[in-house]
Amino acid sequence: MRQIEQKSALGRFVEGLTDAFAFPLKTSHYIELVNPLWTSHSMQARIEKVWDETATARTLTLRPGMNWRSFKPGQHLRVGIPIGGRHFTRTYSISSAPERSDGCFTITVKGIPGGFVSNHIIRKLKVGDYIPIGVPQGDFYIPDAQPVKPLFITAGSGITPIMSMLRSLDAEERFPDTVHIHYAPHNYDVIFGEELGNLGKKYSRYNLTRIFTRDPGGEVTEEGLRNQHFTQAQLEKICPDWRTRDVYACGPQPLLDALESFWEANGLRRQLHTERFRAAIAGSNVPGTAGKLTFSKSKAVFDSDGQINILRLAEDNGLNPEHGCRMGICHGCNVKLMEGCVRDLRTNELIQEQGQTIQICVCASVGDAVIDA
Ligand code: FES
Repeated sequence: MRQIEQKSALGRFVEGLTDAFAFPLKTSHYIELVNPLWTSHSMQARIEKVWDETATARTLTLRPGMNWRSFKPGQHLRVGIPIGGRHFTRTYSISSAPERSDGCFTITVKGIPGGFVSNHIIRKLKVGDYIPIGVPQGDFYIPDAQPVKPLFITAGSGITPIMSMLRSLDAEERFPDTVHIHYAPHNYDVIFGEELGNLGKKYSRYNLTRIFTRDPGGEVTEEGLRNQHFTQAQLEKICPDWRTRDVYACGPQPLLDALESFWEANGLRRQLHTERFRAAIAGSNVPGTAGKLTFSKSKAVFDSDGQINILRLAEDNGLNPEHGCRMGICHGCNVKLMEGCVRDLRTNELIQEQGQTIQICVCASVGDAVIDA
């Protein structure tokens, strides 16, 4: 039986009545003290299991509370991480399949060198902890109605949304003719390596090539294909019919930039679907203009080099502005520009109109500026 926490219609009715007595809080705030999964004012998940995939990547199995809804394989969600009285938000792809029968789902987090939050998740979160979560979102998934011949191209932790797709195709026993190219520094860095290998044994239609970019002992042994990042020669060799395939790619920005340029140049950009974990930042041939950035509500002034995004600058200096995706999508970090000028790091566009809304996760100040945060 699926164990997603459910509240009955009667329960919701009673909660509506008791809200009047709980004012100014809601009944849900008191219920949270009994079981955080029963709350309706926010969504929480309990960590049921932690599992080390590699030395630097860990999978958390999460049991979601009320208001959870199912997801499509490939979607992501926001996860709240309380650390030392501050609240951080990060976005992670779901790595499990929606067909999972126990009502849980998984996220798989890779520790980034110097990454404060990712390393906290890997080292400090434990079974029994509760964390706030958002609803699944994103349009990076294989459409149900349309049969596709996928070409998956992944690197590092970019495997996570694709793993959800692979697990779903496996669970539904409708595995199509699939080519998968995965890049990792070494064999021992491949997240889900054993499971991918088993899928290859189970389905002759699943053709996996792992390329180890820092290890000459990779699986692609032909001269010139080892030890390399994406090239056309490599693609032609591994997947000669790439022009006829729908491509789903996830990985670091340089890989996704290279794929987008390549498919664009070949007039096939519509066949390429990418999932980014960070905003695509424009080239840095625009020098930053250092200056003082004032956070008017916090009454704080920090030096900026004109390159660092404002959200990061604030967090590095102990502030905790509201935010969500950290990549310019959700507008959860919007504030008003009061004085001065900022640069949108995705386009290098300058924004200098007083009162204009800016997204601090993708903007850097230009010289002295004041924002309403
Ligand atoms: S945090 Fe989502 S747009 Fe800035």
